[in-house]
Amino acid sequence: MAAEYITTPIYYVNDRPHLGHFYTTVAADILARWARMRGKKVKFVTGTDEHGAKVAQSAEAQGMDSQAYVDKMSDFFREMVVYAGCTPDDFIRTTEPRHIKAAQALWEKLEATGNIYLGAYKGWYATRDEAFYPEKELIDSDQGKLAPTGAPVEWVEEPCYFFRLSRWQKPLLDYYGQPDVIAPESRRNETIRFVESGLEDLAISRSRLQWGIPVPGVADHVMYVWIDALTNYLTVLGYPQDTQEMKEFWPHSLHLVGKDILRFHTVYWPAFLMAAELSPPRRVFAHGWWTREGQKMSKSLGNVLDPKELVVQYGVDPVRYFLFRQVRFGHDGDFSEKTLVQCINGELAGGLGNLLHRTLTLVHRHLAGCTPVIAGSPRSQQDSSPVSDELRGEKVRSWAQWCQKELEHLIQQQDFFSYLERVAQGIHLGNQYITQLAPWDLAKKGPGTPEWDQMIEGLNSILYLVRDIAILLYPFMPHSCVRLMAQLGQKEQAPLWEDIGSSIQGGMPLPKPSPVFAKIDFSPVEE
Ligand code: MSP
Repeated sequence: MAAEYITTPIYYVNDRPHLGHFYTTVAADILARWARMRGKKVKFVTGTDEHGAKVAQSAEAQGMDSQAYVDKMSDFFREMVVYAGCTPDDFIRTTEPRHIKAAQALWEKLEATGNIYLGAYKGWYATRDEAFYPEKELIDSDQGKLAPTGAPVEWVEEPCYFFRLSRWQKPLLDYYGQPDVIAPESRRNETIRFVESGLEDLAISRSRLQWGIPVPGVADHVMYVWIDALTNYLTVLGYPQDTQEMKEFWPHSLHLVGKDILRFHTVYWPAFLMAAELSPPRRVFAHGWWTREGQKMSKSLGNVLDPKELVVQYGVDPVRYFLFRQVRFGHDGDFSEKTLVQCINGELAGGLGNLLHRTLTLVHRHLAGCTPVIAGSPRSQQDSSPVSDELRGEKVRSWAQWCQKELEHLIQQQDFFSYLERVAQGIHLGNQYITQLAPWDLAKKGPGTPEWDQMIEGLNSILYLVRDIAILLYPFMPHSCVRLMAQLGQKEQAPLWEDIGSSIQGGMPLPKPSPVFAKIDFSPVEE
């Protein structure tokens, strides 16, 4: 079974983590947990991007030495990984010796293959984006010329090294012709349009900046921060050594990125790789941006959402679930705490939590707190069953197995939204079933009656359904789902995809139910 190499962008340390950083890191964690659950070999990596003009300026503004500054700031991102419940296999910092070695080796390889030459850059640079912009892309505004992203630009004239990007137009267009390499489709089209319109060679060193990786053998040039940063994806696999990890993971790379850094990952990066005689990424998925209550989040508006505060207030799992349930991955979305609370109270506490609670309460009341023992084959097909035809116990019990293939396909497409939508249907099915079956009424007839047997079978079906739903939701809400499974007598550990539909032993004592998702009164996080 193929290995999976899943990466997040490495984050600039010019500020503390915000919701955007949290979002991509959690997306990568969901995919990594899912792939591990599926029995695949996984490498999931995140980290910090610590060089460049932007970071150097922030250090200076704080009156700090650059290295001391990045050491301090990188820790906030390490901390985020923990409170986001994420399980990366590595955390890369671009100031580490292993990375400096890898970036310099890549540079030397590009030089050796004739892809680098010395020239002079004359043009616009936006430090906020760490990007060079051709005149034709700039927009005129009251404050003068701006980058298409709205970032201020400055005129730069300096000697620099160039990468022969113009050479790679045809190989890049061929690469985009392979299935699934860029998603969503709109981002693939955007990339193709950009490359078809012609590629200029790319400036890849800065001579007026010191905070960067030295260009090998050249005293007064440091690498442009993007060539440095992109190389991180190879550093962690042991590049430039031809390691086992390079062989195993590189062909299976999936880069998750935000839409603003698409071009770097779908144009520059594959061109660098092909020029260095390596295969381009298997897939790049670009997600959208979050606004907050309809407004762009920015320091000047003072409305940047601190993910740590959210996690403290609402718990990490509900926040993780909400981000992928609320907005289709790949689309922009608006974050509102009110909607988050509605989601927790409605779907999690009211839907899933309530289904589990109602079922376990009945198990404790009528079955001495033990999982149902079913004698012989299920009898819920009987004519006397109080549930409608389309809502049979058999269907409820095997619901997850029935849609397992479809869910696997959705997660492999990073379509978290449709995946969760489908799982929400399963929760709804369970609640509809228990309401129609009304096991509390069936129980009144007492043991030995057909109604009593129906109650037992019904509860059994729901236990299977809830257990399977906990497995399906595990990558999104790992801690809650393990707690959920523990209440169903399952081991307190990460489940396996193949556990879906496996038999639950009858007569097993279950702990007293305790709510996994608490309903909350709405009181917004202070700004
Ligand atoms: N350092 C570069 C990436 C180098 S990868 C080789 C960088 N860093 S960043 O810290 O500025 O941004 C990291 C990610 O955060 C980007 O993918 C960006 O899209 C994402 N987001 C920033 N603001 C965001 C939102 N408001 N919403 C969602 N994601 C956003 O770029």
